Amino acid sequence: MRTTWTFHTASQLLFGRNAVDQLGEVAGRLGAKRLLIVTDTILAKAGPLDRVRGPLSQSGVRVEIFDGGEPEPSMRAAEASIAQARKFAPDAVLGLGGGSNMDLAKITATVLTHGGTPRDYVGDDKIPGPIMHLICVPTTAGTGSEVSAASVLTDEEKQLKVGILSNYLRPQVALVDPLLTVSCPPKVTADSGIDALTHAIEAFTAVDNADFPLPPGDRTVYQGRHPLGDCLAGKAIRLIGENLRRAVANGNDLDAREGMALGATLAGMAFSNVGVAAVHALEYPVGGATHCSHGAGNGLLLPFVMRFNLPARRAEFATIARILHEDVSGLDDEKAAERAVAAVEKLRLDIGIPQRLRDIGVKKEQLRPFAEKAFGIRRILRVNPRVVTVEDLEGILQAAF
Ligand SMILES: NC(=O)c1ccc[n+]([C@@H]2O[C@H](COP(=O)([O-])OP(=O)(O)OC[C@H]3O[C@@H](n4cnc5c(N)ncnc54)[C@H](O)[C@@H]3O)[C@@H](O)[C@H]2O)c1
Ligand SMILES: [Fe+2]
Repeated sequence: MRTTWTFHTASQLLFGRNAVDQLGEVAGRLGAKRLLIVTDTILAKAGPLDRVRGPLSQSGVRVEIFDGGEPEPSMRAAEASIAQARKFAPDAVLGLGGGSNMDLAKITATVLTHGGTPRDYVGDDKIPGPIMHLICVPTTAGTGSEVSAASVLTDEEKQLKVGILSNYLRPQVALVDPLLTVSCPPKVTADSGIDALTHAIEAFTAVDNADFPLPPGDRTVYQGRHPLGDCLAGKAIRLIGENLRRAVANGNDLDAREGMALGATLAGMAFSNVGVAAVHALEYPVGGATHCSHGAGNGLLLPFVMRFNLPARRAEFATIARILHEDVSGLDDEKAAERAVAAVEKLRLDIGIPQRLRDIGVKKEQLRPFAEKAFGIRRILRVNPRVVTVEDLEGILQAAF
């Protein structure tokens, strides 16, 4: 049976070098007079905070800064941001940073609007209505949070990353200025860049929308593979394949930075409608326990999950090999698809992503519990093109060990 598919993104996307100069106008159009910037101390020192604050202050907006953001933000960081926001009483929130700070800004705007605590909103579609004005300004080329419907937090008690998913979390404005990513050190560039590639590949090879196994009455923002998602994910894979090595090797290569910024945002548009799958499901427990970055965990796991999914998506993986400029002439789809895995393995090695779970401190006895935790994350596992059992997940982790 064919179903209807939909597409959601940020209400407005502003993309380009020096786009931050337009922030005053952007805030004016939203009617924002008191704006809270959610960021961290690294971005306060590295330059992006000054670039963003300048045009806002010039336009007369009263700005306050929360700089308590942290990588893979904890519930505690979210509570701190919310507490400061309650005191300041902003009429708009701006997330400045990588996915971590943008996700903090999203949960801050949510709790300020609807009350409660961050934990109340964990899961699918728990936010009851629109949230206050939210502007997201990414400083990494990675997560796509500036257009996505997700906010990802770390639940320290459960040692697990948890996701809040709702179309109400999509910002009013995504302002993507590639120049803000120039100060990213190589490791952040590599980790966030391969996260974006993972988003694009998981969306491009997801279960078809027509076969999306959603139980009746179950609501989710993810809906399986559809034609618009394919366009965006395919273009994102090309841009990331052509630019990620260059951006890691030379952070001042502005064309590479711009290619990555566009690639990551397009990948965000794709995955935040189609869904992410087994790589992300497995990364949640791995990242929660080892504190490796989300991108490093995904990049490590990506080729192992691709190999597992090959039988279900040969033609699509063969296409990915071509998009990544692999020479597949004369090869059938099966052999060409394997070239996609090899290309990702080579890229991963070239940009310094860890190769094995043992390299990031995982112990063999953790593999089964990780597989069980990942198996519980149904909302993303059901996007995977091949049905997975706990044993399958354990097998993937063993291969990656
Ligand atoms: N909301 C979503 O849709 C979504 C999607 C994927 C991942 N995520 C989440 O996003 C987080 C990862 O985000 P990320 O990969 O963008 O990294 P990040 O936000 O965790 O940033 C990593 C580090 O790089 C620093 N940094 C960022 N930009 C910089 C710059 N321009 N110059 C200098 N330093 C800079 C930060 O201060 C931080 O210390 C994870 O928590 C992950 O789970 C969210
Ligand atoms: Fe991700």
